[in-house]
Amino acid sequence: MAEPWWQGCVLYHVYVRSFFDSDGDGQGDLPGVEAKLDYIKSLGVDGIWLSPIHPSPNRDWGYDVADFEGVQADYGTMEDFQHLLDGAHAKGLRIILDEVLSHTSDEHAWFVESLTGGKDGPKADWYVWADPSKDGTAPNNWLSVFGGPAWAYQPARRQHYHHKFLRQQPKLNWRNHGAREAALSVLDNWLAKGVDGFRLDVAGTFLHDGALSDNPPVPSAERTRDDWAHAGNLQRHLFDSNLPENVETLEAIRKRVEAHGERFVFGEFSEEEARCGAYLSPTEGLHSAYTFVLLLARTLTPKFIKDHCETLSAYPAHWPTISFSNHDVPRTVSRFGGENPSPDLAKMMFALLLSLRGTTLIYQGEELGLPQASLTRDQLRDPVGDLYWPYSGGRDGARTPMPWAPGPTLGFTDGTPWLPATSEHEHLTVAAQEDDPGSNLAFAREMVALRKGSPAMTLGGLEFLDVAEPVLAFVRRQDDEAIACLFNLSAEPRFADIPELEGSILLEVRAGDAELRGGSIGLSAYAAVFLRL
Ligand code: NOJ
Repeated sequence: MAEPWWQGCVLYHVYVRSFFDSDGDGQGDLPGVEAKLDYIKSLGVDGIWLSPIHPSPNRDWGYDVADFEGVQADYGTMEDFQHLLDGAHAKGLRIILDEVLSHTSDEHAWFVESLTGGKDGPKADWYVWADPSKDGTAPNNWLSVFGGPAWAYQPARRQHYHHKFLRQQPKLNWRNHGAREAALSVLDNWLAKGVDGFRLDVAGTFLHDGALSDNPPVPSAERTRDDWAHAGNLQRHLFDSNLPENVETLEAIRKRVEAHGERFVFGEFSEEEARCGAYLSPTEGLHSAYTFVLLLARTLTPKFIKDHCETLSAYPAHWPTISFSNHDVPRTVSRFGGENPSPDLAKMMFALLLSLRGTTLIYQGEELGLPQASLTRDQLRDPVGDLYWPYSGGRDGARTPMPWAPGPTLGFTDGTPWLPATSEHEHLTVAAQEDDPGSNLAFAREMVALRKGSPAMTLGGLEFLDVAEPVLAFVRRQDDEAIACLFNLSAEPRFADIPELEGSILLEVRAGDAELRGGSIGLSAYAAVFLRL
């Protein structure tokens, strides 16, 4: 039986508000995405993951949905969406929607009714409501990811409701049959329109502990520095999320999606959830998952990559999704390269992204090698940026407009961009790279083509080769095809002795330089090279 299309596919993550503005209001929109379909197609990818497109008061920029059936007015109309979907399909590109079904906006009609309809109202239990503790404080110790208690008191019900993120993002109660069915119908409705699947936001958090048990603290020796989610990380989220029975809910979601044919549903899981084996189980849960392990890493070593892959290989039949960059974390070039990243780092990171076993997520601009934009406090739009300033600048530095061409807004809009188009990206615009065969963009296209043209790179297993750090080496193998993938993770040239390379052929697609002599290979700084064994 042929593998499903989503195994090994490459998806391009479009953060709609910052991609391309078609109407001059300073915000990217769906016709803007449609206008750039040829560009996306030229990368060689299989499809697009669109950040949330539904109406939202934008407290958390679309991750607080007020109406799951509609399209956010800033982004266009339902006709615009249908047009984009048809246009993408005509070019052979899949469309994956970002569905945020663990919580809603507090402006969603379901929540308004749950709040105002009384404790006996039909939607009374659609959200997680609880009485205050005896001393009038929050029902338990749960902390919000975005800081402070994960509960908000509502005098209208004399109760608190639970919110894992902002207080404007009340948690939907997936233990309630009506709420659960309503959420599942959202998926049905969009699948009926023809979308190819979903990225499920915070997929480990659908179920909460019915007894509302307190979360245990993270022992101080194990606490890690985490720029955008620091406060919530002081406790282990064992009872507000990561419940073993959450897997059954995910499975129900997957089956609901599969009832519409061969569609793809993958989930976002927090770093802690990566330790929760059941989510990575082969037959339960969703089709695939990605965690924050690669997204939050600050130091890149062969050991780190190996450890991550070994965690995954404990679940051999699990199909992973690989992501180094997105709208929530600092762009990789800056995360691993600091303030003055080497120009060679971007290509190597892109090569590594495309070489690891899994379905690949490319974040818009990653193909251009964009560094994180530096913004001043008054330029920030992300509530998380405000909360953690100056400890962290929040997430806006990864969300600035896509740089298309020279000009004051880098070709993103004729109006005033909602986040500044940064001069730090001026030399990396699409126009500047388009005709340069040595550019990051040209390399990205070659790299995607290498991956798509090779069954081993797309679907094959991954075996690490024994080599001294800082060189990372592994083989992707499928049937009789074997490709060795080598990365020099350092800013210095390196030699590596790898007997398995004897007699192999260096492929044309490469970042940096390499010289092969027998089983010895010399690699320039941040080189990424491929050899056919
Ligand atoms: C993960 C999303 O990627 C992030 O942007 C959002 O703030 C949280 N989930 C809450 O929905």
